[in-house]
Amino acid sequence: MLQSRTTRHRSPPSTLAGILAGTVLMSCAPEPAAPPAVPVVEFQPTATVEDIMRAMVDPPADAMWDAVVTTVTDTGIEEVRPETDEDWLSLERGAVMLVEAGNLLLIDGRRIADEDSVSELPGIDLEPAEIAARVEQDRDAWMRSARELHDAGVVMLNAVRDRNVEALLEGGNRLDVACENCHTRFWYPPDTSGNDAAATDGSPSP
Ligand code: HEC
Repeated sequence: MLQSRTTRHRSPPSTLAGILAGTVLMSCAPEPAAPPAVPVVEFQPTATVEDIMRAMVDPPADAMWDAVVTTVTDTGIEEVRPETDEDWLSLERGAVMLVEAGNLLLIDGRRIADEDSVSELPGIDLEPAEIAARVEQDRDAWMRSARELHDAGVVMLNAVRDRNVEALLEGGNRLDVACENCHTRFWYPPDTSGNDAAATDGSPSP
């Protein structure tokens, strides 16, 4: 009884196997492979460059620079260093923001600032429309500057993860240069002192 049941049960699977084999054969018919689908979801660069500076770039950068400070006073030397796990964790979060802010600035179509935003220091800072025109004119330099923010952020992130105060200090200088090079090129009015801003980022001037 048990034996015959086993036998009976065996037969449907083999039939199924036959059907499956047929299906596989059919699906192997020479149909050209569909081309890879074009991604339909695109970036939505909602925040302006100004928003990103205020929310994601300036606060963590300040935290990096404030993390290692040596002050000489009348009574001796005061040293600020990251000490607790919480100090390091907070710096790590900031470094991640700097790194990825560098990538966000690479996205095409991001506005510089809101329509109603005007320079807080007219004559010292350019207006958003003027900045946008500069970016438009030299998108490569913009991309390189954003990339340098990313790369300086990576140096900071590594320093933080290694809990290396010396590297944090050195990386802080590189970070500062990354900010200033982009600002000099795109945010401040042309330098009338004769020093070419383009020369400061190490790339040949146009
Ligand atoms: C790829 C270019 C670029 C890099 C890199 C960059 N910035 Fe900016 N930043 C800008 C531009 C453009 C503006 C002007 C936007 C505006 O306010 O109209 C700006 C504006 C600012 C502002 C003023 C925001 C406001 O309230 O109007 C601050 C603060 C700032 N940046 C900080 C930093 C710091 C700190 C760094 C480096 C850690 C940095 N930025 C790196 C392009 C850059």
